[in-house]
Amino acid sequence: MEKIDISEQLQYIEKVNQLNVGKKLKYFILTMGCQLNENDSEKLCGMLEKMNYTKTEEMKEADLIVFNTCCVRENAEERLFGKLGEVKKQREEKGTIIAIGGCMMQEEHIVEKIKQSYKYDVIFGTHTLHKFPEDLYNAIMQEKRITDVINIEGEVIEGLPIKRDDNIKASVTIMNGCNNFCSYCIVPYVRGRERSRQASDILQEVQDLAKQGYKEITLLGQNVNSYMVVENQNANHEIDEINTFAKLLRAVNEIEGIEKIRFVSPHPKDFTDDVIDAIRDCEKVSKLIHLPLQSGSTNVLKVMNRKYTKEQYLSLVEKMKEQIPNVTFSTDIIVGFPGETEKDFEDTLDVVKKVGFEQIFMFIYSRRVGTPGDKMENQIPEEIKHQRFDRLKKMYEDSITENNKKYIGKTEKILIEGYSKNNENLLTGRTDSNKVVVFEGKKDKIGKMANIKIKSEHMWYLKGEIV
Ligand code: 5AD
Ligand code: SF4
Repeated sequence: MEKIDISEQLQYIEKVNQLNVGKKLKYFILTMGCQLNENDSEKLCGMLEKMNYTKTEEMKEADLIVFNTCCVRENAEERLFGKLGEVKKQREEKGTIIAIGGCMMQEEHIVEKIKQSYKYDVIFGTHTLHKFPEDLYNAIMQEKRITDVINIEGEVIEGLPIKRDDNIKASVTIMNGCNNFCSYCIVPYVRGRERSRQASDILQEVQDLAKQGYKEITLLGQNVNSYMVVENQNANHEIDEINTFAKLLRAVNEIEGIEKIRFVSPHPKDFTDDVIDAIRDCEKVSKLIHLPLQSGSTNVLKVMNRKYTKEQYLSLVEKMKEQIPNVTFSTDIIVGFPGETEKDFEDTLDVVKKVGFEQIFMFIYSRRVGTPGDKMENQIPEEIKHQRFDRLKKMYEDSITENNKKYIGKTEKILIEGYSKNNENLLTGRTDSNKVVVFEGKKDKIGKMANIKIKSEHMWYLKGEIV
């Protein structure tokens, strides 16, 4: 896979920096969507800080505003248009630079709407993230708006500066794009085809993070278990032995200093035995598997183009329960996909009951322009979608307390992440299954592993004490 040469962009970073030198400039960034977008935003922050901007949480005081957008569901669009309306005056009065990037900018009809109805300075897409410094420089120098969106099949970007949000947990993107074309999903159209980073680059990044004191790594990709390096020559023209997700997990597990490894999202159809074995064997790899179900009905799954049946999903779960001690599951579910009958929906509830998920991310089906799902005639009325969503939500919430009880009295090895957001006297961390735990403890424990005995459950979090 071709790596993009970013040396010219590094020069543009310096050029903008020269323009800004001596000025006290602030930037505000709003990130919508998934962890991949958050990781892209960390790269944007890295570039901006090298261009002499400092971060502010107050949009009103920013000299430059970045909206990093998502388009997986409709509500993000309304949110972006609202924000663009909000900043119009600030741009006119203060000359605040408005930059809009991310997945939504890969949709032509959205870019057209923004061009016609809103003011902005830079639009960039998912394939031009690395060109942000050049686009920004041109927008400033030429005093005109820059629209820089391209559609390309494959590229890997290495070496961008990065400013991470956290100093204990870090995300590392291992692959980008998707080849699956699930019929409801816009991602393949806006993120392009699957391309995996070279393992040597990924391992170098994780090693550097470990040296900086990071303890937890989340490996990211739209479809992590189809991680595959085809042209596996590294920078020294040596062949990379690590060319599958299972091998990558094992290699990351060897890196000293890293205590916990998580990954999102795998696709059930690509969950091969070597990955199951690697999860079982690698003591640092979390035994929480995020396994997107989407629907429990074989009929709906077929129309969704998911390439597995209800029975195949359930037998995969059974296999993992047998092979991986203490395995737990979380999932994504869409309700109200076109043609979903009451019986189909009950199949979804049935799978939920059978698996016993730790966490369910629930979504109401949202029509996306350009996807096959949007063209289907048997769309489900909004009211039924909402009713089904509420039924699923109730079933899930009713199961939480019961499920939480299994933790009481158990001792969990937990990475202490910091102070609890809701109670600054308590420390917080997460179980292997990603449940929030709060407990008393001293500040010097932050960033360290500790054994926590769980004492009580409170629906969305557990309380414990250090043992
Ligand atoms: N409508 C609703 N939910 C969707 N997702 C993806 N596309 C749509 C859509 N059109 C959900 C899927 C996916 C998660 C990230 O978002 O469940 O796993
Ligand atoms: Fe979208 Fe399906 Fe690809 Fe996930 S696997 S990003 S749901 S097309």
